[in-house]
Formats: sequence, structure tokens, C-alpha cells
Amino acid sequence: MPENILVAVAWPYANGPLHLGHVAGAYLPADIFARYHRLKGDKVLMVSGSDQHGTPITLRAEQENKSPEQVVSKYHKEFLDCWQKLGISFDLFTTTGTANHRQVVHDVFLNLLEKGYIYKDSMLQAYCPRCARFLPDRYTEGACPHCGFLQARGDQCDECGRTLNPSDLMGIRCRICGATPRFESSEHFFFRLSAFEDRLKSWVKKHDYWRPNVLNFTMGILEGGLKDRAITRDMGWGVTVPQPGYDRKRIYVWFEAVIGYLSASKEWAASHGDPDAWRPFWAGDARSYYFVGKDNIPFHTLIWPAMLMGYSGLNLPYDVPANEFLTIEGKKLSTSRNWAVWVPDYLERYAPDPLRYLLSVNMPETSDTDFSWREFQRRNNDELVATYGNLAHRVLTFTQRSFSGLIPAPGGLDAQSQELINKAQAALGSVDRLLYGCHFREAMRTAMALAQDGNRYLDDKSPWKAIKDDRQSAAMAVFVVLSVLAALKTALYPFLPFSSQRLHSYLGFGGRVEDAGWGFESPSPGWKLPAPQPLFDKLDESIVAEESSRMGGAN
Ligand code: MF3
Ligand code: ZN
Repeated sequence: MPENILVAVAWPYANGPLHLGHVAGAYLPADIFARYHRLKGDKVLMVSGSDQHGTPITLRAEQENKSPEQVVSKYHKEFLDCWQKLGISFDLFTTTGTANHRQVVHDVFLNLLEKGYIYKDSMLQAYCPRCARFLPDRYTEGACPHCGFLQARGDQCDECGRTLNPSDLMGIRCRICGATPRFESSEHFFFRLSAFEDRLKSWVKKHDYWRPNVLNFTMGILEGGLKDRAITRDMGWGVTVPQPGYDRKRIYVWFEAVIGYLSASKEWAASHGDPDAWRPFWAGDARSYYFVGKDNIPFHTLIWPAMLMGYSGLNLPYDVPANEFLTIEGKKLSTSRNWAVWVPDYLERYAPDPLRYLLSVNMPETSDTDFSWREFQRRNNDELVATYGNLAHRVLTFTQRSFSGLIPAPGGLDAQSQELINKAQAALGSVDRLLYGCHFREAMRTAMALAQDGNRYLDDKSPWKAIKDDRQSAAMAVFVVLSVLAALKTALYPFLPFSSQRLHSYLGFGGRVEDAGWGFESPSPGWKLPAPQPLFDKLDESIVAEESSRMGGAN
């Protein structure tokens, strides 16, 4: 029975270009997972969109002297272009600026209001006397009440990851001018998060299969107790509040952005001519996976689940396989200091699969990992080109040269050959199990180990020598390696979709890899193979210095 899998991916703020931290943290693992399930024949719905509200957007617009709309539309287009070139295969990548999103947010808001899970109260809001303005949460700074970190922002502490209110900060300062803000009272709506504490506790405890970092972090917050949270703000940019007297306030960006998973699913359904098509992904046996970066964990393991509990009738997250951070050349990634590798820049100069390879084999799943250009160049040349690409190229060109491009009949397999075929079968099984459980890095390493076994076998058999006096043994070796390659193009398709598709056709298979499904099928003797091109290009040593010199400079 095909399964229904919702692949929900964090919504990037449309206030700047994407960088490798985004890709390694959420978009690549989500795409690998979605492609894997499609290849298995499951039904997948993969959605996300541009997060276009909140102070990250208004701040950028102020800096650039543009309207928020202009900022958002520029980056939204750029995101779409990056997904396409990088092969991130969304079923829908929309924005939080649609009428549909507003309607769905209003529906959730009113539903929770009706049930008493949303209520009105007054909130103390930081007002900076020197700047003469109310300060959005992100514009305030002070010491974190949980861990003491001195530069915690009014919305979240970057050190311990806890979510905060500005009034929680000790020694609060205005981030613009450094003055001490005073608090003024203003009326807002609050989400009764505290009402869900017990239900969340027993729900979270059931998820022993969650990653330890996600589970421990979430349990830690729960143990400290959950406080109600203001979900409206005094600002003019955002989703309107569906209540009279609130024209000058908007729904808090985090409260409405997470609802995007639902609104995007509904938009996808409507645009496919079946407005109810989203339901099978949100009810019954369907499983939902939320791919988010480390700093987004509490919104997806506590706040969004609580909202769904209150709303009722829809599935809670099945898993939140959040990744840790990617450092760049040994240092913490920083967009403001331009210590980042920007995705549009990368895509201007290199093919997508080498990046997908490096970030998969080195994915920050259980701890932070590092990206460096040296490692990128080395792994491209030594692993993608030398191990996988060469295995394919050597045997495909040999087939052209010595068998006129026709796949030879293997005859009976000797023990060594049978053993390799068994290994290929076993590797496909392991990769299957690992991907099913979101162990991407291990899955990639398992597939690459098979490519190494294939190389060793090919060197041993040296069909280019054997062909001189034992054509049958050369034919057997060629057939066996072509079969190993068939296993590899399947196992690696979720990670390296572009090169897998090419290898698929070099091996004589027609159509798309995705339609061929997950399984071990040798290409058939007698098939005429097309002339192959190398799967990957070697990268010159010089790119390491060239790329490193671009980093950290002016943006
Ligand atoms: N825009 C937020 C960020 O970049 C993530 C939002 S995820 C969502 O950190 F689920 F809330 F949309
Ligand atoms: Zn802290």
C-alpha cells in the first residue's frame, strides 16, 4: 500500500539570498526524503513557501529604502530559481502573502478563539524613549533568563534556543540605540499554550524515535513550563487580525507562518482541481515530517502541535528531523558578516550534484559539521569523480569499445561476481531502511561503499586485459558492473538526481528514474547503450583559493 507522506519544510524569510546553511539544514534533507518516497511509489506532498512577514522583512526594507513587497518579490523569485537549479522538488513553494493563506490563518485563529484557546489581554511592550518608537521583539536585547547569555534577543536566545518575550530579558536595551526601553501597556491576543502542557508532555514522550537532540531540547523546555504567548503585534505588515478594533495590529509572524503548512497544502489541492486532495496528507495514517533548522525546533515540536491540538482533526507532526548547524571554513555562518556561501553564487559556477553530495556525506544530523572549499574540491575529485564517476565511465566506454555498445550476456557468474551482486542488493536494502528513518548521511556512505566495492571488483577482473583471451569472462565482469551501477543510480537518485537520471539512460533504461521505482533491476543483455559522457567534472585545485578569497568581503 502506498503511504501518504507530507514533507513540510521550514519557510525561509524572503529578506535575503539562500545560503548553504539553509540547504544543509532543511531543504536538501527534505528533498532527499521526498524523492526517496516518490521512488518507492508512495504519495508525497512537499510544501513550503516564502515567509514574507515579520520584522526580518520590514528591517531589510527599511535598510534598502524599499517597500516590504519589493523585498519579498525579489527574493521569492530568486528562491524559486534556486530550487529549480538545485533540484529541490517542491510540489508547491508559495508565500505567506496569498489570500488563501490569510483565509486559512483566520480560520485557525477564529477556531481557537471560539474555544477559548486564544484570549485578549494587555501586554507590556518595549518603547524606546530615544528612538521614540515601539520596539519589535527582535529590536530588543538583554540577558537570557534561562542561560544568562548577554546578547539574547527579545524573541529568542541564540545561545540556548529558548523562545522569549522582551519582558523576560534582564537588563533590556534597544538594539538600535542602546537606550533602556520602558514598557507600555497595549492590548493583544494571546495563545493559551499553558493549557496544552500536559498533553504535549505525554505526546512528546511517545516519540522515542525522534532525534536525541530534538527530543532532549523539547523535553527541557517542557520541564521549565509553558507560558502563554502574545500572538498579535503593533505593526502594519502581516496577516490582519479578524477582530474589530485591531486594524493597526497584525498576527505575529510565527503564529501565522506555521499555519502555512496547512494553507500551502490547501492551495496545492485547489490548483490541482481537487480542493479536498490535501486531506489524505493530514489525516489517518498519513505521516508528516517537518524539516527545519535547529533554531526552529520549539515552533514545530511544541507551538504548532499545540495549535493543531486546539484546532483538532488534523495530524500532529510525526517527526521533526531537525539538523544541527553547518559551519563555514571552521567558523559560525554569519549573513551580516558575509561569512556564508550564497546559493545563487554557487549555482552560477558549479553543477548542483557536487554540492548535494558534499552536504549529504557531511550532513549536520547529529552534530555541527563544516563546509570548506578544500573539502568540496577534494571530495568532488576523489569521491564523486574518482570513485563513482570513473566506475561508470570506465565500464560504459569499455562496453562501447569492446562490445559495440551492446550489453553482453554474462553467462554463469563466478563466486566473486555473485558476491558483488549480493552486496549491491544488500546495499539497496540498507539505503532503503536508512532513508526511511531519515539517516541521510549514513545512507549516502553506504551507497558510496558499494561504488568502492565495484571499483575493486573491476580492477580485479580487468576486463580490458581479459578480453584478449577470455571474452566470456570480460563479458561477465561488464555485466556485473553495469548491474552495480543500476543499483547505484537508484540508491543515489534521492541525493544526486541529475547524475542518476543521466546514468539511468546511459544504462539503457528509458524514461525517468522516478518512474522506474525502487528496486534492483539489471539492464538486459542485448540493449544498445548510448555514448556516455563523464558523470562529473574534476575541479581544479585553484578554485579553493579563488572561492576562499570571495568570502568575508563586501556583500
Ligand atoms: N522564517 C523562519 C526562519 O527562517 C522559519 C519559519 S518556519 C515556519 O527562521 F514554519 F514557521 F514557517
Ligand atoms: Zn539562553
